[in-house]
Formats: sequence, C-alpha cells, structure tokens
Amino acid sequence: MSALIQWDIADHQYMAKAIQLARNGLYTTQPNPRVGCVLVKNGQVVGEGFHYRAGEGHAEVNALAMAGEKAKGATAYVTLEPCSHYGRTPPCARGLIDAGVTRVVSAMVDPNPEVAGRGIKMLSAAGIDASFGLLEKEAKALNPGFIKRMEQGLPFVRVKLASSLDGRTAMASGESQWITGAAARSDVQKLRAQSSVIVTGVESIIHDDSSLTVREDQLGLADAKQIVEQQPLRVILDSSLRTPKTANIFKQPGRTVVATCSSNNERIKELEAVGAEVVVLPSDNGRVSLIALLKWLAATEQSNDVLIEAGATLAGACLQQGLVDELQLYMAMKLLGSDARPTFALPLTKMSEQIELKQIDSRMLGNDLKLVLQPVCGEG
Ligand SMILES: NC(=O)c1ccc[n+]([C@@H]2O[C@H](COP(=O)([O-])OP(=O)(O)OC[C@H]3O[C@@H](n4cnc5c(N)ncnc54)[C@H](OP(=O)(O)O)[C@@H]3O)[C@@H](O)[C@H]2O)c1
Repeated sequence: MSALIQWDIADHQYMAKAIQLARNGLYTTQPNPRVGCVLVKNGQVVGEGFHYRAGEGHAEVNALAMAGEKAKGATAYVTLEPCSHYGRTPPCARGLIDAGVTRVVSAMVDPNPEVAGRGIKMLSAAGIDASFGLLEKEAKALNPGFIKRMEQGLPFVRVKLASSLDGRTAMASGESQWITGAAARSDVQKLRAQSSVIVTGVESIIHDDSSLTVREDQLGLADAKQIVEQQPLRVILDSSLRTPKTANIFKQPGRTVVATCSSNNERIKELEAVGAEVVVLPSDNGRVSLIALLKWLAATEQSNDVLIEAGATLAGACLQQGLVDELQLYMAMKLLGSDARPTFALPLTKMSEQIELKQIDSRMLGNDLKLVLQPVCGEG
C-alpha cells in the first residue's frame, strides 16, 4: 500500500468517471454497495463497468470483460476497494491480478470486515501498485447505508415528510393528501426506490391506506421496469396489531412486515392470512423499540437505507431518540393552519432542548421547496 500518494488531474477525472458509473446502481444494488470501475491504458479508457444488482457482475468484472486483452498493463480506478473474498462471485482483486492490471486506485477501503484492506494487500502482494483515498468523500456519499451497516450494524435512516410552509403534515382529521405537487411526489418515488426499506406507523396506514410502493410510471428513469422488480421491503410499526387486514399495502407486489410487540396469535394469524409477515420485537414504553427494529433490519434483512414515511408521531420519536441521519422535507407554499398536525411530535419545553439541523441541500421542485437536512446532535 502506498503511503504518500500524489494523484494527478487525469487520476481525478477517471475516478470521477468511476463514481458516475457507480450511480447507475443507485436504485438496484441493495444490499450490495454501488461501485463503478474504469480501466485506462495509455491515456485511453479500455473498460468501464458498474455493479447493477446483487448476484450479477461486480464493477471490476464488467470493466475487465469490456477491456479483454487490453486490460494487461492498464490502471484500474475503482470506487470501492476490490473484494478479496469468495461471495456470490470470485474475488475481484484476483480478477484484476489475473488480467495483468499493473496499477489499482481505489477511492475507499471496503468497510466490510471480510475485506477491510485485504483486497489492497492482495493486489500489493502480487506486485500491483495499489493505492486508496482518491475522491474518498465523494465515493463514501454513494453508500452511506452500506458503510453504516458494516461499521455500526445499523442502517442509514432518512425521514421523509411533506409539510405546508407552516410546518403542518395533515389536517386535525388526519386528511393529508395531497400537500405537495407532482414533481415532489415523483422525487419521493426515487427516494423510495433507493431505499431497502420503507417504514411507516399504523396511524398512517389507518388514515391514508397508502401502498408505499415504487411505481414504474412515476419514476421517470430509463431502467424503471428493472427497478420495480425489486420493491423495497415495507414495514408497519404496529405495537398492538391494529392494522386492518383489508389494508391496501397487503395487496401490493413485494413483502410487507408488521412489526409489533403484541403476541396476540389470533391477530397474527389474520394478518399472515392476507400476506403480512409479522415480526415480534422488544417493546420500549409499550411501543415497538425503534433501535431493536433498526438492528433487526440491518442484521436480518441486510438493509442499508431505511426511509421513514410516517406522521408526526413516528417521525418525532425517531428524531427524539437520535436515530435520524437525514431529513428529506418537501414544503408546499401553503398554510394548513394552526389546528393542523405538526411535522414532528416533539414535546420540548426548553430552548436548550432544541434540535439543530444542518442544511445539506435545498431546491425547488415545481412549487415545492425540498430541504435535505442532518441533525447536528443525536447522530444515530
Ligand atoms: N405529510 C406527510 O408527509 C405524511 C406522511 C405520512 C402520514 N401523514 C399523515 O400523518 C397522520 C398520521 O400520523 P400520526 O402521527 O398519527 O401517526 P404515525 O406516525 O403514522 O404512526 C404512529 C403510530 O405508530 C405506532 N408506533 C409503533 N411503534 C412506535 C414507536 N416506537 N414510536 C412511535 N410510534 C410507534 C404507534 O401506534 P401503536 O402504539 O398502536 O403501535 C403510533 O401511534 C395521518 O393523518 C397521515 O395522513 C403525513
């Protein structure tokens, strides 16, 4: 492994290209990371590849297949350290060695404990000039969920909410459709598609009877058909099994889990009969433990990215417990009035309890303002 590394402008450009390629897997690689690879020889790109779906070729394998014999003597730019272990496919580090690549630049070390530097060591041991750290921040931004799951055993948690300008998410009656316009709703479809799991609260199911699916016609992406083949797992938090068995969510393609702390076997059987998977988790003050849910999702479902789409109660509970990594807030230029429901049920009483948010992004989507924010304290 090189200690002091100088990368030139061309190195930066090729790695930026590899990061761009990795984005092709934004909606499909779960539970695997998004990875891109570029092979360059004598200033010419001879191979390009990205990982699209778990079980299919890794980025390096696809780039090597494109390069063929031209890979001999080439430099490989990879957004994630090439793997060193036998998973569903043979180790990519071995593939690069066998193809005669002479230099490998990785953007970041693989946080997967099964790799964690072993890929780079394997390359170095074979006499390849192997370095890492080029555009590392940008590469890490491709896979916040995968990195968090590998490092902490927890998924990356995003909370999505649509609110009025006065911070209201539903009328007092529970009516909430639709606050934001078509552009914002289409953006939410993309957000769902890049998530492994969509979590909601039982009250949202009772009031909205939402499906929480990714819809091909609303994605606006060239590979929408392939993306919707793998719907994100849907989870309803329902401590005492109040979800109606007639709920729309059970009629959708893909899996729906009802996470509960009730052991009412009769209700469990009723929900299972309509296609639900019921998972009993520990309770926390009479409600499903949120941390237990997140640990279960990471360990059992290999979930990288969790999207919480619920009302003020669940959104507030997640924020208060410091479990939120990112807020995605869609604000309509409307006022719903002081009797409407708040964005977060957060019973704070002192200024010292305030939750500070850092702005990551802001943009207009039609007439709605989209804000991406991160809690400054209470990182999950
Ligand atoms: N504007 C938006 O973006 C948006 C999005 C979704 C929904 N909504 C609206 O929000 C309203 C529903 O919001 P809501 O606040 O009443 O309910 P909610 O947040 O959707 O669901 C809350 C329920 O989830 C259950 N739950 C289980 N474990 C929990 C835990 N650890 N922490 C918190 N909740 C837990 C609780 O019921 P149990 O104790 O019985 O389990 C709780 O009452 C609806 O009117 C809907 O239309 C708006």
